[in-house]
Amino acid sequence: MKPNLFGVVRYSITFCIAFCFLVSSVKKEDFKTCNDSGFCKLHRAFADTASSKEGLKSHYSILPDSPEVSPEGLTATIISSQDDSKLQLKASFLKNGIVRVRIQELASEIPRYQGPGDYVLKNGEGGLEHSLYKDFKVEPSISQKGVRSHLITYNKNSAGNDLKLLLVEEPFSLVLSEKDDPIIKINSLGFFNFEVLKPKGNSSDGVEQVFEEKFNKWTDKRPRGPQSFGTDISFPGSSNLGEDGMYSEPYRLYNLDVFEHLDDSPMALYGSIPFLISHSTKGTAGVFWLSSSETWVDVTREKSAIPQIVNQIVGTTDKNSMNSHWISESGVMDFFLIPGPTPKDVFSQYSSLVGTTDKPREFAIGYHQCRWNYLDQKDVISVNEKFEQHKIPFDVIWLDIEHTNGKRYFTWDIAKYPDPTEMQNVLAQHGRKLVNVVDPHIKRDNDYYIFKQAEEKGYFIKGSDDKDFNGWCWPGDSSWIDYFNPKASDWISDQFSLENYKNSTPYLFVWNDMNEPAIFSGPEITMDKDIIHYGGVEHRDVHNIYGMLFHKATAEGLIRREKVAKRPFVLSRAYFAGSQRYGAIWTGDNASEWSHLSLSTSMILTNNLVGMHFSGADVGGFFGNPSPLMLTRWYQLGIWHPFFRAHAHIDSKRREPWLFGEPYVSTIREAIRLRYRLLPYWYTLFHEASVTGMPIVRPMWVEFPDFPSIYSMESQFMVGPALMVAPVTEDGEAPIQNISFPDQQSFYDLYEEFSIVGKTARDYPASLSDNPVFVVGGNIFPTRERHRRSSEAMKNDPYTINVFNSIKGGAKGSLYLDDGETYNYKKGGYIYRKFTFKNATLTSQEAERPVGSDNILYEAYRDSVKHIRIERVFVVGMMNSFSKAVITHNGEDREVEVTCTKKRKGRCTVRDPGVSVVDDWSIRLSF
Ligand code: NOJ
Repeated sequence: MKPNLFGVVRYSITFCIAFCFLVSSVKKEDFKTCNDSGFCKLHRAFADTASSKEGLKSHYSILPDSPEVSPEGLTATIISSQDDSKLQLKASFLKNGIVRVRIQELASEIPRYQGPGDYVLKNGEGGLEHSLYKDFKVEPSISQKGVRSHLITYNKNSAGNDLKLLLVEEPFSLVLSEKDDPIIKINSLGFFNFEVLKPKGNSSDGVEQVFEEKFNKWTDKRPRGPQSFGTDISFPGSSNLGEDGMYSEPYRLYNLDVFEHLDDSPMALYGSIPFLISHSTKGTAGVFWLSSSETWVDVTREKSAIPQIVNQIVGTTDKNSMNSHWISESGVMDFFLIPGPTPKDVFSQYSSLVGTTDKPREFAIGYHQCRWNYLDQKDVISVNEKFEQHKIPFDVIWLDIEHTNGKRYFTWDIAKYPDPTEMQNVLAQHGRKLVNVVDPHIKRDNDYYIFKQAEEKGYFIKGSDDKDFNGWCWPGDSSWIDYFNPKASDWISDQFSLENYKNSTPYLFVWNDMNEPAIFSGPEITMDKDIIHYGGVEHRDVHNIYGMLFHKATAEGLIRREKVAKRPFVLSRAYFAGSQRYGAIWTGDNASEWSHLSLSTSMILTNNLVGMHFSGADVGGFFGNPSPLMLTRWYQLGIWHPFFRAHAHIDSKRREPWLFGEPYVSTIREAIRLRYRLLPYWYTLFHEASVTGMPIVRPMWVEFPDFPSIYSMESQFMVGPALMVAPVTEDGEAPIQNISFPDQQSFYDLYEEFSIVGKTARDYPASLSDNPVFVVGGNIFPTRERHRRSSEAMKNDPYTINVFNSIKGGAKGSLYLDDGETYNYKKGGYIYRKFTFKNATLTSQEAERPVGSDNILYEAYRDSVKHIRIERVFVVGMMNSFSKAVITHNGEDREVEVTCTKKRKGRCTVRDPGVSVVDDWSIRLSF
């Protein structure tokens, strides 16, 4: 469906293309193209000249004798032969193989923004010092083909191969290699170009600097003048971009509220993560570009470059390369080369920089019911009751902007919601929660306490006239808190305290919308770039992290509000690298269109590749009215996305599941129940993601990296290692799904009693009740099979352990549990079991606890859950018919009965083996 291999990479840099409408009325004229953006146009033109027939040798070279090494890494001076400007290059090496490269003026009268590292990197800039690899070797500089270069061997990768960085002097270029095989090249196409900051009027090179830039009716004053930079970054051997993988416009990374955005377009959208991943049969690698300013990225294969000297030295061409051209408006050129070589290595290396998904509250992975808007308190209570009547589980009901008193966040429309505390208590009695929207625009109203306090304390962002910035959003005239001011951020966190946020309870959680920030009266529906934030930082430099700082402050507020800190739940629309530490995101305003149903998966897979695991799309589509069939299919897919919420526009018809009658309501009920049965598996995947950075939902290539035929596949995807989902995303009563089974492995239908041996593809007619899912042989996963109203109601339920034998025999899996709400797990308050199945024996063992981990609360937690039993074990894919099982537990052997059927190549059931989830035990099937 989507292009080959590089499709994956394509989705990784920005998700807008996978996120857009087929039927669209986007106002394109409200948003810039590359041509409308001075710096983008300049760098693209530069690249065009560099790759034209006449060619252009890059005018940047390393100043002879400037390279120096110290334990901190390598420094060198880059000089431009065009204007003699000098740049400083710093390369540092991290223990896990990452190379960081930073380039900026060697000296400048005008300070350059030093980058968002303190906000984006998980331990701030200082945190990386501990990760430096200082024991690298520098080979004496060598001269090849008349050009000097410097080779640094700095580490070994997980395959045991040497990692090397080559710095070529003229023209300046860098090559990261594994052994002697180049994996990433910088400036091999000669696109490197850097606008040095110069005082106004200084045009020593005769080129007049343009300061002001106009777009529609807006003027960006650009008081510090041009300061952009760009370079090519190529991945040799990663050449499968596919036919439809290229766009005439570059991808744009600039967080924007693009109303009714386009289908299949590289235009900007709500969130951006500047992380590009390349995967081929040779391996997986990536580049993380640490800039929070507007960034454009061209991803190309075809541009045949004039061969630069670096290719002759390292023996590659660019013809077989996937080439990317990164262009940013401001800040330092700062990027991290992520060497891999496996997908798992790439995810763990990337998350060593920006952190992993924070472990969510357990309820947050249940089902969320939202619409703009539930009318009033009665409506909320009645929806809650209807879910009860129809025996459909759900965990959270949401209130959109209409619940407030005139879009004054932190307040309630008391006429509609006369007793919000009572409403939350009723929900809580059913084990359920409420989420309220809290947007970042603050209504300018002297009678509104939030506005008054923020104004008096000076916490609003200031406009160019040094008065509080005033823009237009839902409430009319509004101002925005300056989260770059730590006091302002702290103050907003405090507004979420139970005392300050009137009528809030510990069952209330938060939704941050419009935080790109969306400003209806601003250029491109956002904030002017020349606004100055606290600390003298221009908005231009930090635009893409503004939304994340609001997300962070909200999450901190929720953590603080109770005596014993509880994990927050905050959903955000805007995001950047690092947002995964603060909560979930969703893909914004989609439509009730079949195309959007399938595109939701593309977007969520992309987000999962780039660390933003806890993501979902509005089930049912935000705009429009889905048919009963479409809504049912949407639920059948939505249950496989990490964040699972139905949401609808205020003008859409009501669409709670029971409104559609049979067979739809039963089918939706079954789908949601399946989500709940699998919650132990989901929670375990979230735990593992929080430790390793592994995506929760995964494109097929992550699990089957050696099968190029599935590299671009998005019609099927993996939920963790065990479940392969092939959702129905087209109209029709029983469309035929062509499902691919890539590996020489058993694939077991999750519901039906059959299995298929891969490498093959099969047509699968999917009637309404079919939601094709296959278990990959060799996996074990836990379920909870009792139907309950919410995740909280399942807390003490017993587990079923599902074993699916691999074709060669054997399986493995895990189960993680903790209290689902506090941070006690950090002090050892968790249970993590590893299951193995070998020689007809299933074993449960405690997973190794991290060395030096704090286990103070382990025993207490263990005691609190030791009553939870394993109530059943299914072993699927057994050739023999067993009659009994020998259970070894607490040093004793016991025998229980086993029943086996021939279905699914043999399924044996051990009922009530009499073991606790916390204990070590084994179950041996025998005759
Ligand atoms: C825009 C959001 O994307 C949407 O989900 C929400 O319902 C509206 N704002 C109103 O708050």
